[in-house]
Amino acid sequence: MTRRKLIAGNWKMNETVPEAVVLAQEISNLMERDWLEMVDVAVCPPFVDLKPVKTVLEFDRVDIALGAQNVYWEPAGAFTGEISIPMIKEIGCTFCIVGHSERRNLFGETNEDVNRKARALIEAGIAPIVCVGESLSVRDEGAYLDYVTAQVRAAFAGIDGDDARTTVVAYEPVWAIGTGRTATPEQAEEVCAAIRACLADLYDEATAAAMRILYGGSMNEGNAALLLAEADIDGGLIGGAALKAGSFIEIVKAAL
Ligand code: G3P
Repeated sequence: MTRRKLIAGNWKMNETVPEAVVLAQEISNLMERDWLEMVDVAVCPPFVDLKPVKTVLEFDRVDIALGAQNVYWEPAGAFTGEISIPMIKEIGCTFCIVGHSERRNLFGETNEDVNRKARALIEAGIAPIVCVGESLSVRDEGAYLDYVTAQVRAAFAGIDGDDARTTVVAYEPVWAIGTGRTATPEQAEEVCAAIRACLADLYDEATAAAMRILYGGSMNEGNAALLLAEADIDGGLIGGAALKAGSFIEIVKAAL
């Protein structure tokens, strides 16, 4: 089954508002509009940049989607410092990253937190990008397939097949994030195929075949084509390379 690829840029905690506006404009200027008929593209800036970036994209009438990097599952209330789903929806987000390893490892986000966020996002009509991935120690021990599929099962608890189809999974081996040590296409495909098999077991073959599984972890313009050629890799979640418009565009072109 051919799935429309998705290339999403995770800007992390980078780009003040002026820098974000410039980056969004540079990406827009380089983006051939007909490419966006063949591949889905999203940018996920920090919260403070969402509205300015959306303004640039709307002004340029370029069909690049907007995503948030995190969200809280309650719609409103006494949750100091948190951002709600209605807030990101009002700005125009159609995607939201949940469960990124940096949030799991640095801020204590649990599988249960990821599941609550994913369910709340689906209810609001925003597509979660559910991040899963193992540490180097787990990989070295050889238990990485069980580890990652356990994360998938926990993230999708209580989510039915129709809702799951609206959700994206991103396999991001922690040891590849920000390190320049990209997983080989074979390593990435092995885990993405295991994720798809897990989804088929949770739901059915058709649902699993319809869902998009991205790879993230030092994907760049030099390695994107080989990774994206793998049967179960339906796109990329891009960190460092997303902060350089030229590099990000080359990755988009590799997904065409
Ligand atoms: O969410 C994507 C990110 O974790 C990957 O970062 O810099 O390795 O592409 P990077």
